[in-house]
Amino acid sequence: MYDIQSVRSDFPILSREVNGKPLVYLDNGASAQKPQVVIDAVTRGYAEEYSNVHRGLHYLSNLATEKYEGVRGTVARFLGAASEDEIILNSGTTEGINMVAYGWAMPRMEAGDEIVLSIMEHHANIVPWHFLRERQGVVIKWVDVEPDGSLDPQKMIDAIGPKTKLVGITHMSNVLGTVVDVKAICTAARDKGVPVLVDGSQAAVHMSVNVADIGCDFYAVTGHKLYGPSGSGAIYVRKDRMAEMRPFMGGGDMIRDVTRDTVTWNDPPMMFEAGTPGIVQTIGLGVALDYMTGLGMENIAAHEAKVRDYARDRFKGLNWLQVQGDAPGKGAIFSLSIEGAGHAHDISTVLDKKGVAVRAGSHCAMPLMDAMGINATCRASFGLYNTEAEVDVLIDALELCHDLFA
Ligand code: ALA
Repeated sequence: MYDIQSVRSDFPILSREVNGKPLVYLDNGASAQKPQVVIDAVTRGYAEEYSNVHRGLHYLSNLATEKYEGVRGTVARFLGAASEDEIILNSGTTEGINMVAYGWAMPRMEAGDEIVLSIMEHHANIVPWHFLRERQGVVIKWVDVEPDGSLDPQKMIDAIGPKTKLVGITHMSNVLGTVVDVKAICTAARDKGVPVLVDGSQAAVHMSVNVADIGCDFYAVTGHKLYGPSGSGAIYVRKDRMAEMRPFMGGGDMIRDVTRDTVTWNDPPMMFEAGTPGIVQTIGLGVALDYMTGLGMENIAAHEAKVRDYARDRFKGLNWLQVQGDAPGKGAIFSLSIEGAGHAHDISTVLDKKGVAVRAGSHCAMPLMDAMGINATCRASFGLYNTEAEVDVLIDALELCHDLFA
């Protein structure tokens, strides 16, 4: 049984007020709030247990190393990886995808080679590929979404041609909430010998993920959306792909031996983790994943589906409200606009006055916004602690915007 009031009491920030109103935090797609256990882990990490990892032989360094390294296993279990050696710890999805771009794709792609992307990728899964386009003449092939915001996996599969070297696909759109059948894409791509990179930034927060079952080659997640600290994250890289990857950053910890003339790398995954990492942030991420697992990913998904259905039904009753995308099985992420009500920034400002936090703008997804023929929306993105009552507060505030502006 999912006790929402008990869950909410785990997040101290949810009891504060903003602009004299109880906070209604609906900006989880951008970054989620942190439960007390994560805040405590971060405080303890600095107050009692801090040291660098992998370097010292003293007590605190061993303790920090043990805790930090323990997170590799936690992430592996959370994502259903076969081994913790398939997990590279990093600062988040952006670093993970850049690591694949520089370490895997760049050395093996030539002018005219292709990367297939959906039009609803976040800039983190677009801009690194533009680097390859600009620097190496790589061609980006775009696959459009359907009018309801769903993505036909067959269209991604059909876009894979003889020159395709990689498919990049989000598991859940950060703008529309669309959930993509990444397993179908991975299965077909594998038959064609083409690896698939899945951006799991949003999906891993809301649903149980099993990378072995999906059959992807790369799966990137970010800690700050997973109720963990910012500056933490991880990427799953299947063992055979990791063996093909070159290090993307050089520095301490990722080497075995350095001389004046030579350098040899540490074993993977360490060879991809140069420099002092986000030690305490990563330890906090481990605690956040344990927290989510303790609640149960299925329970979180069921709770969020209930809130999503309630929100969707209420939105449908407002004929002046546009909701972008209504793909079956979508997550609880809604991009909203009000006909004749000016810019999304104006709406979000009014919402803020009512204590409701949303994101306004193009949500780091300009090609999608362009395809939809809009330049900005207000995005309400729900998390494991949101309630139907908060949907009501959001709608009261949207009604006020409609009255004020439309
Ligand atoms: N990727 C984050 C978002 O979608 C920042 O808002």
